[in-house]
Amino acid sequence: MGEKETVCVTGAGGFVASWVTKLLLSEGYKVHGTARDPCNEKNGHLKKLVNASENLQLFKADLFDFEGLCAAISGCSGVFHVASSVPSDENSVFHDEGEFIEPALRGTRNVLDACIKAKVKRVVVVSSAGAVVYNPKWPKDQPMDEECRSDPEYCKRAKTNFGNYCLAKTMAETEALEYAKKSEPRIITVCPSFVFGPMLQSTVNSSNLVLMSLLKDGLESVENRVRPVVDVRDVAEALLLAYKKPEAGGRYICTSYVINVQSLVKMLKGLYPNYNYPKRIIEVNEDIKITSEKLQKLGWKYRPLEETIVDAVNDYTKKVEIKTS
Ligand SMILES: NC(=O)c1ccc[n+]([C@@H]2O[C@H](COP(=O)([O-])OP(=O)(O)OC[C@H]3O[C@@H](n4cnc5c(N)ncnc54)[C@H](OP(=O)(O)O)[C@@H]3O)[C@@H](O)[C@H]2O)c1
Repeated sequence: MGEKETVCVTGAGGFVASWVTKLLLSEGYKVHGTARDPCNEKNGHLKKLVNASENLQLFKADLFDFEGLCAAISGCSGVFHVASSVPSDENSVFHDEGEFIEPALRGTRNVLDACIKAKVKRVVVVSSAGAVVYNPKWPKDQPMDEECRSDPEYCKRAKTNFGNYCLAKTMAETEALEYAKKSEPRIITVCPSFVFGPMLQSTVNSSNLVLMSLLKDGLESVENRVRPVVDVRDVAEALLLAYKKPEAGGRYICTSYVINVQSLVKMLKGLYPNYNYPKRIIEVNEDIKITSEKLQKLGWKYRPLEETIVDAVNDYTKKVEIKTS
């Protein structure tokens, strides 16, 4: 077998990117991973991945650091741009738009300019379902597909961290799709919904915390919001599929199930009866119809939701002690 190609993963130590890095290494790719602080122990798990000692090289690069990104991307035929500022907690102190927009927009431009400079052939940019679903003009009875884009003004009006994050992801993806109109490199965007699943990194990421909050926080009440969800391992597979399939192009929505909080709590209670569940569920008028048909036509498959939930909770409870009720 000939020498495998070299690819770069931005923000390699994050929740999604760690699984992408693991998958790439397992398939024999040489990986250049970027991290803001490669020596920080929160990135220590990367060095323990199978094949990491021979095939993983970490580069220090902030998304604002064009030269650092150029050094990491040089010599790569492909790039997975995964790094982005992600809100740590929906209820935390309200951050202004800039906190998410700057890293998302300037970071995407820097990564794509570095890709052009290094003559990279293919780039997969991780966007978000948040760049899809906030579109009040989309017909209610029609599943949202890749034609549906979030409305920036609608995201802004939410005046929440999550609204600002969705605004940033919408702007960054629009920029990436504008770059894609130029001939080289080929740029594909993938929009995952809420990502749950086991964690390779030692710290708990924000989307898994949303899930864990339902079984550990004993909340007085929780809104019966609707969540499109996907397993982190299935997201990694989707990104690699988009990278490898020559016919892949444009955007891909990456989501497996749509579930409301009440059904999620019911499933969790069935599996783990003794944790601290919300005392009351408040009905809200919300419905989301969204489809990953385009990605499935490319060959993407996803695992059962229960497997995701069980693996996520079992992994979380190994890292953090949860009090039982
Ligand atoms: N998790 C979800 O539910 C979900 C859903 C849809 C889309 N996504 C997208 O998936 C990607 C990964 O998300 P995740 O959940 O894996 O988040 P995560 O675990 O918080 O990882 C985010 C990564 O981005 C890096 N990063 C943040 N700001 C940076 C900057 N200015 N310069 C360089 N690196 C920076 C972080 O590096 P440090 O370690 O140095 O902070 C970290 O490696 C993001 O693009 C996110 O928008 C996630």
